[in-house]
Amino acid sequence: MLIHDIITTKRDGGALSSSQIEFFIKGLVGGSFGEEQVAALLMAIYIHGMQEQELVNFTLGMANSGEMLDLSSLPGIPVDKHSTGGVGDKLTLVVAPLAAAAGVTVAKMSGRGLGHTGGTIDKLEAIPGLVTELSEEAFLEQVRQIKVAIISQSASLVPADKILYDLRNRTATVSSIPLIASSIMSKKLAAGCGKILLDVTVGQGAFMKDLPSAIALAEAMVAIGNGAGRETVAILTNMDEPLGYTIGNGLEVKEAMQTLAGSGPEELEELALLFVSEMMQLAGLGEASSHLSYLRQLLLDGTALQFFRRMVEAQGGDATAVFDHTSTFALAKVTQPYLAPQSGYVSKINALLLGEAAVLLGAGRLNKGDTLDMAAGIRLECGRGKFTQIGEPLCQLHAASDALIARAMPLVAQAFTFAAEPPKRPQQVLGRII
Ligand code: URA
Repeated sequence: MLIHDIITTKRDGGALSSSQIEFFIKGLVGGSFGEEQVAALLMAIYIHGMQEQELVNFTLGMANSGEMLDLSSLPGIPVDKHSTGGVGDKLTLVVAPLAAAAGVTVAKMSGRGLGHTGGTIDKLEAIPGLVTELSEEAFLEQVRQIKVAIISQSASLVPADKILYDLRNRTATVSSIPLIASSIMSKKLAAGCGKILLDVTVGQGAFMKDLPSAIALAEAMVAIGNGAGRETVAILTNMDEPLGYTIGNGLEVKEAMQTLAGSGPEELEELALLFVSEMMQLAGLGEASSHLSYLRQLLLDGTALQFFRRMVEAQGGDATAVFDHTSTFALAKVTQPYLAPQSGYVSKINALLLGEAAVLLGAGRLNKGDTLDMAAGIRLECGRGKFTQIGEPLCQLHAASDALIARAMPLVAQAFTFAAEPPKRPQQVLGRII
């Protein structure tokens, strides 16, 4: 077989056979092809897309290109939860301990921030001492002991994705639905859970800006999961605005903890309850809609927060640092408010602009390998729909220096829109795909 023939098949709009896919992935990881050949194939996939079975085979090939985790020794049915990315999206920090408290086995691998979106591993690493790189045995043992662990993806997971992702970045082929779907789902398949719950975000702060593209991505990912024998459900959620009141790693940990104690933002709690109910259903623990009051009780009686504390301690984190209100956890050197330039109802808060501003403040990476400031970020003082007077603080910027605040401020200043009338509450959940 020749790589030239594989490129030709795709260039002419055909579907790759399973033996062509196997040959391609093996040669890719083995370094047998020129970069220009792989780039040509990526562009052909970008232009022509992939058929459903072809996409399932391609994703399985990618998943099998490295280590495949075996979770079969764990009790219960492990359920994964994955978000396609958002701003202020601390949902996993709430969902994982709450699901564990409700009896779901949570053995989760998460990623780091990408562009203007945050990553669960960066957020967890805001907790002093917390380790996200565990051996497979330590990871499984922690889940056996306390039902929940969140670790970073090991370097040997899906090497094919690392090569393709880098080339996609350099060849303007990142935004292809089959390439995004196979990139995400190959890592989910390799991470070993038999059931997968996807949060496909839509809007300004998401990678998918409009509902039709998000539906297409969700359908592709659900088809891959189910086609690979893993029951998969996708929930489409609105990411026009940041989720909750905080953006930035340490600030989001604090807000997640408030939510786990039953006093977080309403929209974040509602989403957390919905996602955990879906995970319970996937785990065979009963119909999703029957769990809401039980889950709310787990927040109010302290059980969910207790599970979070156990996870932090098991992974070497200093729980006292985050649980003691007098500690200096996530306190930035400098804070500065952004004041409302006019009076009116806050009708829109642009998640993309605030996500980009948070990166400039030090909460995300401008370049690969940049060190994060775990205390940096933005805290909204005034939620969407609230009436604000001119000169009142809309948000606080947190950073290590005045200079960093000065470079983020112009983005923050464009992020708020005002109206004379109170805006309608946007729909948070935009669909469910099975
Ligand atoms: N996240 C991934 O892992 N891959 C993509 O292609 C996009 C988002």
